Amino acid sequence: MVLRTASRLVVSFAITSRNARSLTTGSTVVSRLNDSSLLDWNKESSSSLTSFPVFDPASPGTVLAEVQSVDAAEAIEKSKDALASWRDDTTASFRSTCLSEWSRLVKSNSEDLAIIMTLESGKPLAESKGEVNYAATFLDYYAAEAIRPTGAGGGFMVPSPFATPSGGPKGNVLAVQQAVGVCALIAPWNFPMAMITRKAGPALAAGCTAIVKPSELTPLSAIALDNLAKQAGIPSDVFQVVTVSTEETPSVGELLATSPHIQKLSFTGSTRVGKLLMKQSSETVKRLSLELGGNAPFVVFEDADIDQAVTAAMASKFRNAGQTCVCADRFLVHSSVHDIFVEKLVEKTKAIKVGAGIEADTTMGPLITLQAADSVLEKVRAAIEEGATCELGGNRLDGQFFEPTILTHVSTESDIWKTESFGPVVPVVKFETEEEALTIANDSSVGLASYFCTENLSRVFRFSNSLEAGLVGVNEGIISSCVAPFGGVKESGLGREGSHLGLAEYLETKYVFINS
Ligand code: SIN
Repeated sequence: MVLRTASRLVVSFAITSRNARSLTTGSTVVSRLNDSSLLDWNKESSSSLTSFPVFDPASPGTVLAEVQSVDAAEAIEKSKDALASWRDDTTASFRSTCLSEWSRLVKSNSEDLAIIMTLESGKPLAESKGEVNYAATFLDYYAAEAIRPTGAGGGFMVPSPFATPSGGPKGNVLAVQQAVGVCALIAPWNFPMAMITRKAGPALAAGCTAIVKPSELTPLSAIALDNLAKQAGIPSDVFQVVTVSTEETPSVGELLATSPHIQKLSFTGSTRVGKLLMKQSSETVKRLSLELGGNAPFVVFEDADIDQAVTAAMASKFRNAGQTCVCADRFLVHSSVHDIFVEKLVEKTKAIKVGAGIEADTTMGPLITLQAADSVLEKVRAAIEEGATCELGGNRLDGQFFEPTILTHVSTESDIWKTESFGPVVPVVKFETEEEALTIANDSSVGLASYFCTENLSRVFRFSNSLEAGLVGVNEGIISSCVAPFGGVKESGLGREGSHLGLAEYLETKYVFINS
């Protein structure tokens, strides 16, 4: 395993106007970009604003940029005022054109966007490039979906020209789909671009206005997307980014959840925060989409193609250093293939190159914060104390880096099994029967992703039907796509993102009866 760290970045502080939203970037960030205006952040505000640092996860303590906060209350007012013109005065085809243009700009700036993402999130450049493209697919998809009859294009007519409501007069039944209204979109740090476009694409297509609150750990990706949205012709009050510090985040979250001017809230993040936002949103009975935590089982049956299973396991587990809500977290392997699966997984995992994401040969970056690295270490140590065998890794490296780790003989009562690790750790448990695997897989309060590997077609249907999860990958470790409905069951959340179902989350259906 090779550990590489980025050279320390130098921060150059510029003089910023007190009442302008501005961004001061380290010279190294800007010098790496072809177009440094992607990070412009100079808009007027009537209130005086604070600023906060953005750190480089590959080099703890190194400040990449100093970002000014945005006044969320002011953003809500602007969004409310912009709603009528965006929803009622623009056509679906105009909104579609804006989204297509935004996508085109994202794609044509993909090199710069990937660098920005890698610097602030730590993920390897290849993964950032993949995410930039993934982010653009949501804009393309909803550009196309906006103009379909079941989309928001001015509504559609139910084919029922002479209906009679409860014995009343004959007439026409119309069902019109309308934009929900002002939407608050709270995005996470682990996918700092794709989770914004997965929410904002359908919101804007439907005719809603959007206030995005990016994670305070990764605001630069959101700022770059905001600048490209403006270039694409999306009015500045229709799509707004509200950058706030860690300290301001709870109060801004509460403001977005309780504001009577916001009709819908979409959140991707932890189950704990999702529950809090759900409580806060109940005051105004907001529409909610919640994509919360998971603890995905990954089951390898005795009839699996073991090499394929290992490839799928690696892709699912080590993507973004194990920091995704859909990462495989609990590995259940049939006793007859346990040893060969573990042996092959260990061999392949040894080839992972841990280092700063910006280095070309890095295949796994750091964890997002020091606390995250501490938490993973604590879980690994506790599992070993409870009887697990460490087959590989098990240690924190310099800074926020963590060794890819494989543990066998893990107790299903240990913390690493019961809660998602959000780190590069593979805990393995043996099983004997399909029933036993299903019981263990479903023994969780959450149900986002799940995976299993088998060559048996009846089992594919039987097992996928019985898994308590919103997403099931069969013989595959990464299944996310703009055309597929993404979301969880149980405490993993509410609603679906992506696909035409993702657009429905931003539409209300109004019934109009016309007496003939
Ligand atoms: C997530 O982990 O929150 C999203 C991952 C994906 O879209 O694949």
